[in-house]
Amino acid sequence: MKYKTFSNGVAIPVVGFGTWQVSPQEAYESVRSALDVGYRHIDTAAAYENEAEVGQAITDSGIKREELFVTTKLGNKIRGYKETLQAAKESMEKLQVEYLDLYLIHWPNPAAHRHWWKEANAESWKAMEELYRKGVIKTIGISNFEERHIEALLASAQVIPHTNQIRLFAGEQQRALVAYCRNKGMVTEAYSPLGVGGILSNEVILRIAGETNRTSAQVALRYNLQKGHVVLPKSVHRRRMAENLDLFDFELSQEQMVCLDALPNTISATRNPDEVPF
Ligand code: A2P
Repeated sequence: MKYKTFSNGVAIPVVGFGTWQVSPQEAYESVRSALDVGYRHIDTAAAYENEAEVGQAITDSGIKREELFVTTKLGNKIRGYKETLQAAKESMEKLQVEYLDLYLIHWPNPAAHRHWWKEANAESWKAMEELYRKGVIKTIGISNFEERHIEALLASAQVIPHTNQIRLFAGEQQRALVAYCRNKGMVTEAYSPLGVGGILSNEVILRIAGETNRTSAQVALRYNLQKGHVVLPKSVHRRRMAENLDLFDFELSQEQMVCLDALPNTISATRNPDEVPF
């Protein structure tokens, strides 16, 4: 495994196991399999409603806590200082961990808090900074934040978010936002790095898969890695999990990268966080 280093020196494995759209029923077995095939970085969220199953799988794996990197996210219904402290505690209880490696604000402008989103994020961030200072959370970050949301947060933040987890795949690179985040020293994490499976039949990706003797999933993931992102592929199939982790003994050429850079987004536009209905 390779690692990226956050601005505070904490290291994150560049491939994590994503658990969005993994049902509670599937989550236990999937995470057990993922840990078994070698993943040491698991990404979940309160909103995925599978933290308890993820936690049980982590415990039952017997893998030492310090060998794991565990991320979860503050749900959209929760904002505020005390409320965020409580939510983090509940997530850690469900995950059966004493500390989190990374805690993220999942969305910047939830429907339930739209009337006060700036203050709401500032209050929640204060709680996250406190947990960070106490060492209960090793790194703190954001997800789905665009520049205007980050600027608003930075107006009162004492700790600059260590990462922004956003939707990134071949065809959707959010270049201006990525450049902005990097300029602030944030790591970029890619969710839906396979376009939720939608880019795997893309003909350019398939051609490059043929050229490199790899699968289209591996090409898509390797592309995001070479763009400098942490990737969080999801699969409930053990063989695919292993395939998605096997990315370090080949490299895409500059020419192949240029072809992938030129792909349009044929999946769907990234949602405007100010208009999400949740
Ligand atoms: P499944 O869970 O049935 O394996 P993303 O990570 O962008 O959200 O994409 C996840 C989707 O891609 C899921 O539908 C998953 O299906 C599918 N998928 C994940 N890895 C692979 C792979 N190596 N080959 C084919 N499909 C994959």
